[in-house]
Amino acid sequence: MEEEFKNLKEEFYSDLQRLPCLAELEKLRVKYLGRKSAIAYLFSKMPGLSKDEKSIWGKNLNLFKQEVQKVLNIQNEKINSREEKLDVTFPSVPFKSGSQHILSSTSRKICSIFEKLGFLVTEGNEIEEEWYNFEALNIPLEHPSRDAFDTFYLNLSEKEKGKYLLRSHTSPSQIRVMQKAKPPLAVISPGRVYRPDEVDATHSFMFNQIEGFVVAEDVNFSHLKGVLLHFAQKFFSSDIRLRFRPHFFPFTEPSAEVDLSCIICGSSSNKVVRKKEKKCSVCKDKGWLEILGCGMIHPKVLTFCGINPKKYKGFAFGMGVERIAMLKYNIADIRLFYDNDLRFLEQFSL
Ligand code: PHE
Repeated sequence: MEEEFKNLKEEFYSDLQRLPCLAELEKLRVKYLGRKSAIAYLFSKMPGLSKDEKSIWGKNLNLFKQEVQKVLNIQNEKINSREEKLDVTFPSVPFKSGSQHILSSTSRKICSIFEKLGFLVTEGNEIEEEWYNFEALNIPLEHPSRDAFDTFYLNLSEKEKGKYLLRSHTSPSQIRVMQKAKPPLAVISPGRVYRPDEVDATHSFMFNQIEGFVVAEDVNFSHLKGVLLHFAQKFFSSDIRLRFRPHFFPFTEPSAEVDLSCIICGSSSNKVVRKKEKKCSVCKDKGWLEILGCGMIHPKVLTFCGINPKKYKGFAFGMGVERIAMLKYNIADIRLFYDNDLRFLEQFSL
């Protein structure tokens, strides 16, 4: 009797550990207090006991029965109050979803304008070989940007020293594509570039560029102008004008820098602008904002890639995504893009 009673108590408390739900609790009630329960069985053994034993076990069993009832009642209340609190119709906690970073969305918007013109998107390599970043782009050894101070070289083994670098522009993508694919080509290539610049409001050691180029028979400078004007008017506004200033890039000839008519004060654009009282804070009343570099692909670059420059011509352009986003959204400091401050970023989430 004693042994059985001890086991029963232990079993009851171990059953309770399972933190029952209401249905489970009912099962426990049947198991311990029902007509065929273990307690009822022990009671049924009472008639065979001596008088003294009867009084001891009668007391023990009754106490235990009360204990079980009490514990089960408490559990019952606990579960009830827990289940009452759970209102399945209650609206859920709002889910905070992420969104594209303003630089990604700007880059995608730019690319999609070119994609609609038939350009294909490709990503080049951020770790690039020196040859692709420089030689193949006709940047001779003595060119200042070759200087180790202007480029992040990777410190690899002695043998590979000076061979690998973090690309300083997206133009190596031109080479990688032209080596593999044959003209006609129309390609756009976005990605990060690296330059050991001092960080300030308009410079960063890492920023984003978008390279674009077309190679085909009979391509000329007016195609380049047409494509860039189309892009600028789609991206900024339809009254935008562009200004092409002669410039030098080793990999294009002729080369130009392109200015955008000021999108803030509107001077130089096609729209009629009222006389302003204050100086324009963005163009400083110059009316123009520099946005990109471009030109006709140098015949030497085509030759490097195995493309006959007598048969094929090409144009190329490269623009800075941060610069364009800063102009479009009137952002004064480039560092805001990289600080990861949600108060800034959330203003541009869709
Ligand atoms: N790669 C040049 C730069 O980073 C931009 C450019 C690209 C100019 C293509 C001309 C043609 O400044």
